[in-house]
Amino acid sequence: MNWTLAARAAKMNPSALREILKLTERPGIISLAGGLPSPKTFPVQAFADACARLLRDDGPAALQYAASEGYGPLREAVAAMLPWAVEPAQVLITTGSQQGLDLAAKVLIDAGSRVLVETPTYLGALQAFAPMEPQPVAVASDDEGVVAEDMAAKAAGARFIYLLPNFQNPTGRTMSAARRVAVLDAAARAGLPIIEDNPYGELWFDQPPPPPLTARNPQGAIYLGSFSKILAPGLRLGFLVAPKAVYPKLLQAKQAVDLHTPIFNQRMAYEVMKDGFLDRHVPAIRALYKQQRDAMLAALAREMAGLDVRWNAPAGGMFLWLRMPEGIDTARLLPQAVERGVAFVPGAPFYSGAGDARTMRLSFVTASVDQINHAIAALARTVRQAL
Ligand SMILES: Cc1ncc(COP(=O)(O)O)c(C=O)c1O
Repeated sequence: MNWTLAARAAKMNPSALREILKLTERPGIISLAGGLPSPKTFPVQAFADACARLLRDDGPAALQYAASEGYGPLREAVAAMLPWAVEPAQVLITTGSQQGLDLAAKVLIDAGSRVLVETPTYLGALQAFAPMEPQPVAVASDDEGVVAEDMAAKAAGARFIYLLPNFQNPTGRTMSAARRVAVLDAAARAGLPIIEDNPYGELWFDQPPPPPLTARNPQGAIYLGSFSKILAPGLRLGFLVAPKAVYPKLLQAKQAVDLHTPIFNQRMAYEVMKDGFLDRHVPAIRALYKQQRDAMLAALAREMAGLDVRWNAPAGGMFLWLRMPEGIDTARLLPQAVERGVAFVPGAPFYSGAGDARTMRLSFVTASVDQINHAIAALARTVRQAL
């Protein structure tokens, strides 16, 4: 049979990350590479109880086809959760926030459209955008986030800028309050729409991050949220909030993809959440992840002493970003680290253009404190050897 693939299929490449992660799944390896939340945080019993109640009280409806917009009470709960005035009618429940990226790409990108992204950015977004054949444009970014002046200089004709203001994947950085103002002003002047992706915003350690960009620019932004990091990623539950100018098209795009997000999962999440469960649960996740971050920072300070290794101290989320000394290419370092029993993700694939080969991403949430100590010691030995 002669299968002729669509030209767009050539744009669908295996995630560089997935290939790397295969390497790290060998037994005996302590992996700081994955992007998974800690399974210790999954409220299994709450789900078991909710499941029994749901099937007993409303089983057939929970197993029926449902509205594409999402389950009404869940849309209302999402609107109430957000720190600005959101109409439930503006909320679209998505199959993970990853689907929100796919829908936004379908609705907003033509072949050749300029799409602005941070340096570096979330690899899964680059993947979601790629089949629509955009021209990704990397905007300079520093410790405070994307640089507003560079964004403004590149904004002409761009369809949107994709931003991750809180505890960014991969760097863990957070956009400062002042930078948010500058970015909002520059975007408004340029008429540049924003796609704000905020799956980690609730996972702050000492104080909440500044309000979302969308809160101050609801007509100029699509906001993406997720239940993956505060409840469970296996639910595949996310949401988007969009202005009326684009909501109907996002909804139509979703109808074509999956008719609706599994209603059973939506009903389960609502059943678990409806009595203020997240107000008790999320602080426990914050406390656990903060302790893990502290352990990793202490291990880095201890083990990397005397090496020209730089890292940040993320104020929330799951990831920490490292820059290795001159001469180290983290893609080449990885197999050597795996030999010593530790895995990380090289940073270069997270760049839309040429990547910084000296960078790497470490997750501090899935390994235990003991494992973190061992892993960072092994990583430091690997770096010393490579130098
Ligand atoms: C920045 C970012 N956006 C979106 C997603 C997708 O999350 P989900 O589809 O599970 O909501 C992730 C997952 O790791 C992420 O890091």
